[in-house]
Amino acid sequence: MRIRKAVFPVAGLGTRFLPATKASAKEILPVVDKPLVQYAVKEAIAAGAEEMVFITSHTKNSIMDHFDRDYELEATLEEKGKTELLKAVRDVLPSGISCVYIRQPEQMGLGHAISCAIPAVGDQDFAVILADDLIAGSFQPCMAQMQRVYQEYGTSVIAVQRVPWEETYKYGIVEVEPIGPGLSEIRGIVEKPDPDQAPSNLAVVGRYILTPRIFRLLDKTKPGAGGEIQLTDAIESLMSEQTVLAYEFEGTRYDCGSKFGYLKANVEMGLQHPEIGDEFRDYLKTLTGSWDDDDDTPVKATS
Ligand code: UTP
Repeated sequence: MRIRKAVFPVAGLGTRFLPATKASAKEILPVVDKPLVQYAVKEAIAAGAEEMVFITSHTKNSIMDHFDRDYELEATLEEKGKTELLKAVRDVLPSGISCVYIRQPEQMGLGHAISCAIPAVGDQDFAVILADDLIAGSFQPCMAQMQRVYQEYGTSVIAVQRVPWEETYKYGIVEVEPIGPGLSEIRGIVEKPDPDQAPSNLAVVGRYILTPRIFRLLDKTKPGAGGEIQLTDAIESLMSEQTVLAYEFEGTRYDCGSKFGYLKANVEMGLQHPEIGDEFRDYLKTLTGSWDDDDDTPVKATS
């Protein structure tokens, strides 16, 4: 039993990154030298998925272009002997992996975006990866960890992460019954509760393995907060019919849908980058951490 299809909802407006996202997708923003969506696709492939289903909008052609072969560019790199770069360009989509693009006609929310995937997913269990939640820093990528849980239990699995209690109001928070280390059965989900109303501090993050029953439930889901069809509402209905597991993954999650999380990802992954990591570390060391209060710029320790 293996998940073969991964859905990437990339049709959001990305208003928190405007104007950068006016004409292109948030998911094409790079972390160091790769767009967010490329990390997400790599993670899906590492979990065994073979078909990538992108839910796009009319401004997201850059995503399609990114995963297309660019023969002209490849020929130029080859001619100039830039073999490393040629490999990097060809590795964007390994052979044997196919891409399907489906337009979400209107930005009616994450739940609606996922329901657009039905022609490509059909009646199979499938993965969902939100590329703006970048997860790194573990021995095994997050979706591969979830795939292991799925293979054992054969049911829906949702990635969760402990967040500081004072931040529960930013997330979907699950009420759970533990069944093993880092693994629980979900009993309820509350969307963005205040800390004193939150049933736990386990927050839902952008990785899901879902059964196709979710499509029927999304169809029946009425628009919720902000007039959007919320995935959370459909998952709540799913829980009343099937077991839905919450899995506390290993790894660091960067909320690249926010400017702060995006900058953190760039700094931390920049430090680990084989090409520029050392130089970048030396540069950061020159920033003393003492700041000039007058113009709010760092005071350099050395010039
Ligand atoms: P967000 O809640 O981050 O919304 O979507 P957004 O529009 O992308 O960004 P902001 O809040 O305006 O800055 C979560 C995920 O769901 C996708 C987004 O692309 C993102 O991956 N999404 C959201 C859709 O595909 N369609 C939608 O209608 C809404």
